[in-house]
Amino acid sequence: MATPDLVTMDKIVSLSKRRGFIFRSSEIYGGIGSSYDYGHYGVLLKNNVKAEWWRSLLRERDDVVALDSAIIQHPRTWEASGHIAGFTDPLVDCRTCKLRYRADKLEDGQCGEKPSKRPGEGPNCDLTEARNFNLMFQTTVGPVQDEGSTVFLRPETAQGIFLNFKHYLQFARKKPPFGIAQVGKSFRNEITPGNFVFRMREFEQMEMEFFVPPAEADKWYDFWKQARFDWYVKLGIRPDHLRLRPHDADELSHYSSATSDVEYLYPIGWQELEGIANRGDFDLSQHAEYSRQNLEYVDTASGERYLPYVIEPAAGADRATLAFLCDAYDEDEIEGETRTVLRLHPALAPVKAAVLPLVKKDGQPEVAREIVAALRERLQVEYDEGGAIGRRYRRQDEIGTPWSITVDHQSLDDRTVTVRDRDSLQQDRVAIDALPDELERRLRAPWRSPKGS
Ligand code: GAP
Repeated sequence: MATPDLVTMDKIVSLSKRRGFIFRSSEIYGGIGSSYDYGHYGVLLKNNVKAEWWRSLLRERDDVVALDSAIIQHPRTWEASGHIAGFTDPLVDCRTCKLRYRADKLEDGQCGEKPSKRPGEGPNCDLTEARNFNLMFQTTVGPVQDEGSTVFLRPETAQGIFLNFKHYLQFARKKPPFGIAQVGKSFRNEITPGNFVFRMREFEQMEMEFFVPPAEADKWYDFWKQARFDWYVKLGIRPDHLRLRPHDADELSHYSSATSDVEYLYPIGWQELEGIANRGDFDLSQHAEYSRQNLEYVDTASGERYLPYVIEPAAGADRATLAFLCDAYDEDEIEGETRTVLRLHPALAPVKAAVLPLVKKDGQPEVAREIVAALRERLQVEYDEGGAIGRRYRRQDEIGTPWSITVDHQSLDDRTVTVRDRDSLQQDRVAIDALPDELERRLRAPWRSPKGS
């Protein structure tokens, strides 16, 4: 049983807006369905999520290389990948209220006339037969809009990796098993978007295609399932809020022989955070056929040649950011007042340390600025001199800053400051000159959510 949580999606949406993490896009025009903009702290948080993902693949391993491919790719890509034929959702329209629903998710919809009823259950509901709707966004390239100029915004970053596979065999001199990783925007014309950044039409993926000799595919599938699960735990997600769920045969994508999802217990229930799939040689053989290029790996020593199988851990940067936010959200009571606090892993926290002069005079701001300058070389820090110290602490707690450094009268006499810990509220006196090393030590220490699991 997972520990009960106070967090709701409404609380996350409201904190995100209040503290500048995530806003509804185009709000001055009334917003646009399922598009969100990341504000200052949201950018810092999501950047940290992506940086930790890159670190786990590029810095901590030597068998993964990086790629940043184009969003608009040759249209044949999507014929070969199966997206033109198969990347569809079944849709129904209501002839009465003119709303459109996912035929396979009617239980999640609301009747346009009677929102307490499901589509089809209202007295005047008149649903059409289901028909397939392709989720790819189409646009055209060049000055003439004809059939030949139609292109698609990529619905997954993965295909860019397969299109470049040959380059990597040549320039990176890699031999399977090895992976190519990429982070970037993907686009899907989702029919039932919603739940904040959980399902959007424009979102960021963190995908890695790991190319292996076919006989090793099962071994690597198991390896990446566990490695990706462990990544979330290492970054502080409570293990009882995470699970690995294998797909049933009827859930598998057209390319996959086995898939497991890492699921997180969001306030809306258990939902997919990341999928790990065994894509076999589906993609490379399709692109070999459509491009008429040989995409086999040839072992120059043994002469062996084969199309590698692919194990793909495919994560969403927005869904991960949302999971970290939900898992971190907490409320407690300090001096009779409710405090909202984001208990984020320090590595993910948008700001690592806030430097706060107790008063805006007596030389304290100058010392505080000196500390900011020294820390800034190593960490994301913030200076704040406005308002009562208690309110400044609360502001930092709400954005998840793990340490608040207060410059007080004593600091001018003995060059020490207090370091307040966001979670334990303990205050330690630390020498100003020792601060950068001390904070880096704390940042690298293993961390577990004080919310317990
Ligand atoms: N290349 C395989 C692939 O794209 P997917 O399960 O469709 O697999 C991978 O997507 C991840 O991308 C999902 O686990 C999720 O985290 C994220 N994702 C997919 N659709 C999304 C959407 N509409 N909004 C936000 N994130 C999404």
